[in-house]
Parts: sequence; C-alpha cells; structure tokens
Amino acid sequence: MSAMDFPAWMAAQQALVEEALSRWVAADSPAGLGQVMRYAVLGGGKRLRPLLVLATSEAVRGNDAAALRAACATELIHAYSLVHDDLPCMDNDVLRRGKPTVHVQFGEARALLAGDALQALAFELLAPDDATMPPAMQAALCRLLARAVGVRGMAGGQAIDLASVGQRLTEPELCAMHQLKTGALLQASVRMGATCGADVPSKARLALDDYGAAIGLAFQVVDDILDVTADSNALGKTVGKDSAADKPTYVSLLGLQASQALADDLRVRAHAALDGSGMTRLGPLRALADLVVRREN
Ligand code: IPE
Ligand code: IPE
Ligand code: MG
Ligand code: MG
Ligand code: MG
Repeated sequence: MSAMDFPAWMAAQQALVEEALSRWVAADSPAGLGQVMRYAVLGGGKRLRPLLVLATSEAVRGNDAAALRAACATELIHAYSLVHDDLPCMDNDVLRRGKPTVHVQFGEARALLAGDALQALAFELLAPDDATMPPAMQAALCRLLARAVGVRGMAGGQAIDLASVGQRLTEPELCAMHQLKTGALLQASVRMGATCGADVPSKARLALDDYGAAIGLAFQVVDDILDVTADSNALGKTVGKDSAADKPTYVSLLGLQASQALADDLRVRAHAALDGSGMTRLGPLRALADLVVRREN
C-alpha cells in the first residue's frame, strides 16, 4: 500500500466498524440503557483500536469476520473506559468527543451502567453462537482482552493514575502507569488482530508485540502532550486537565520537547519492529504508528 492509499483504507475500515457497532449496540433495551450506550459509542472517536486490530489481521491474512468482531470489542471496551474515566469520581470531565460526557447527558447512575453493559457486550461479541470462529480463537481473544483491561491492565493503571495525584513519579513508574492504563489495550488490539490469523510465525508475533508496546506507550505520551498543546475544539475534550488535577504526566516530568522526542523514538522503534517481522502487507500498521505520534487530536 502506498502512503497515499492510507486515508482511503482508513475511511473504509472506519465505515465498516461504524456500521457494525451501530448494529451490535441496540437501541432497544430496558429503560433506555441502549440509547445511553449508543451515545457513548457511535459517531465519534478515531477508532484507533479497531484500526489496529484490522490492520494486524490484514498483515497476517486473518479471518475477516473474526477481526471485525475483535475490532468492535476493543472499541466497546475503550468507550466504556472513557465513560467511567470522565465520571466525577475519576477525572470529572464534561466534554468528550465534542459532546457533553455521558454522565452530564444522562446522569451518573446510567453512565455507570452503560459502561458496565458495554464491557459485557465486548466479550459477548467475541463468543458468537455460530461458526464465525473456532472455539479456541474465541477463548484466545477473550483471554487477551480480559488480561489487558483487568487489574494488571487498564483498571490497574487507572488505579495508579488516581493514586498518583499530587505525586512525583519516577520515569519508570510513570511508564508503568501509562503502559497499564492505555498501552495494554492498544497492545492487546494488535495481539487480537494477530490471533485472527492461523499459524502466525513466532517471529512475527514477537515483532507485533514490540510494535504494540511501542505505540501503546507513544499513544499516552502524545495524549499528555495534547492536553497541553491542543485546543479543546480540536481535541473534543477539555484541555489542561492534567495540570489542573495535578496528575503526573510525561510533560510534567520531562517537559514538552523531551516528550515529543520520546514519542518519536517510540515511532521509530515501532517501525523497526515491523522491519524485523518477516511480514509483508504492513502499510496500514506503519501508517498507524505515524498517526499515533503525529495526530492532532
Ligand atoms: C483517549 O483515547 C483516552 C485515552 C486512552 C488516552 P482516544 O484519543 O483514542 O479517544 P477517541 O476514541 O479518539 O475519542
Ligand atoms: C484515560 O487517560 C485512560 C483510560 C483508560 C480511559 P486520560 O484520563 O488521560 O484520558 P483523557 O485525556 O481523559 O481522554
Ligand atoms: Mg484519566
Ligand atoms: Mg481523563
Ligand atoms: Mg489525557
């Protein structure tokens, strides 16, 4: 794929994901909870985690139907994590994806429940009651996702984040927090894409793991940078929240320039991992590594 084809590839995959999410997150539900879930999920967001699943599956010539389910599962988990992250008991944010946050729009109790239900739906998608994918693939996908978002993944990272308010972390501590709260789900997205393939050589799997680790950390470093450099309109969320809440970030620890240099080093590491993977069909994964680091929202 030439660099010029990436925007078309991305738009096509985003449209696929949007259509599938809209189908799977049903409006019809007890007491309107489905509408709250649809508000949280549809019509916004870069869909980066689904794009990573689909790009990786393409690289390993994976099962397309399985990859679409895995892609949507990562986005449902991500959407749930944002709804909970924005709650008053966590980051207390009022703006997300350019709209009022879910709890502002629907109240805290429904925001909590919509998050719970989105998380459950993600796992339901990975265990379809038909022949879409073999049972072993279903189990592997569930295991990867569960590990990435549980106590040794996102939830644990979010716990460190809240416990770190007003603290000065060392670089290894900050790195560990970022790897858990954000990096784990991004790396899992890559692993899940690889799991949609059959007989992926271990050299390729290891390279994809290294790629996922590099962009996973880079992603949160850039999130910290954008909280300082972007404006709320472009970002779709309130800027300046990290310093207002006295959270340790890469910018507060290293400064802007060194943070940007680190993000770029991680981008180079991600490309190097792909170079050593022995795979072809890597255009979308390469372009996604660049997007993670050079994005403006
Ligand atoms: C924001 O994620 C939250 C973090 C994990 C830092 P994204 O920047 O991917 O948010 P959307 O999905 O595009 O809104
Ligand atoms: C969120 O990190 C990580 C999640 C697991 C949702 P942030 O709190 O920095 O994300 P934003 O800046 O609110 O999107
Ligand atoms: Mg947070
Ligand atoms: Mg937040
Ligand atoms: Mg942030």
